[in-house]
Amino acid sequence: LLLLLAKLSCSTHPVYLWRDAASNEQLTCQRCPPGTFVKHHCTREQPTRCEPCPDLHYTQYWNYLEKCRYCNVICGERQVEVQQCNSTHNRVCQCQEGYYSETEFCVRHSKCPPGFGVEKLGTPFENTQCSACPHGFFSSSTSSTKPCQPHQDCEQQGKVVNVEGNQYHDTLCTSCGQERSNGTQGPAPGDEDCEQAMIDFVAYQNIPIKKLKRLQQILEHPSRKQAPRTRAAMQEKFRAFLTHLREGHPVTQELLVALRTAKLHSIEEQVRRRFLL
Ligand SMILES: *[C@@H]1O[C@H](CO)[C@@H](O)[C@H](O)[C@H]1NC(C)=O
Ligand SMILES: *[C@@H]1O[C@H](CO)[C@@H](O)[C@H](O)[C@H]1NC(C)=O
Repeated sequence: LLLLLAKLSCSTHPVYLWRDAASNEQLTCQRCPPGTFVKHHCTREQPTRCEPCPDLHYTQYWNYLEKCRYCNVICGERQVEVQQCNSTHNRVCQCQEGYYSETEFCVRHSKCPPGFGVEKLGTPFENTQCSACPHGFFSSSTSSTKPCQPHQDCEQQGKVVNVEGNQYHDTLCTSCGQERSNGTQGPAPGDEDCEQAMIDFVAYQNIPIKKLKRLQQILEHPSRKQAPRTRAAMQEKFRAFLTHLREGHPVTQELLVALRTAKLHSIEEQVRRRFLL
């Protein structure tokens, strides 16, 4: 019981051993609480004398330091101060928004490329975590915040699937085929919905990059420079190009001719059958 009491009193009044210079006697002195330091060590007659730390100095624990520690943490580039220096704590810095700390430096959070979504947002301490979009999901952007999105459901919108979604792009729906199935009429030539559906259909076929470039050249007349490297990016670009072209004039016939010129006969055939051309 005595031991226990001694221990309890120890934890409430932390002490230290100190050899008194005058008497050369070993004394048990009381420590100073956080935020203060030892101004005078105890003597036989006097208890320890503690004093508050001066500005920009601190002591975090019960101590017998003769000086407080200096707040020596300095926030660097791309860091923000998250805890000010006070009498009991050193300054604490953290990487600013959008950055995480890696071996002393603040590095910008990675972005997930198309086909990959953000699994876990980056923090001041950890980089973004990306993962490949699972079946039924896609991500078409390069982003440090966007997760994979589920493919849209055409049926729910009363439409039909024109292009199946994949890892890189959403499912594309159309109402183009529906009028036809009512048996009333085929798509009117120059019908904008159907023309867009045809563009989408062609753009997302598994056409080799070389052929895609060739197609674009045929349709573009004076060819421009520098195409994107991946097929997914090339498909997006080609689709945007055709959509833009369509805003000027109908492109259906032009596109069919281009498919033939590029020797993409089976795709031309599929388009004719699907869109009743
Ligand atoms: C010093 O800052 C810490 C952390 O912000 C806080 O918990 C503590 O109460 C502060 N101490 C004083 C004496 O203000
Ligand atoms: C086709 O049928 C659907 C319902 O089956 C109807 O809502 C739609 O108006 C019809 N379209 C035409 C062009 O008749």
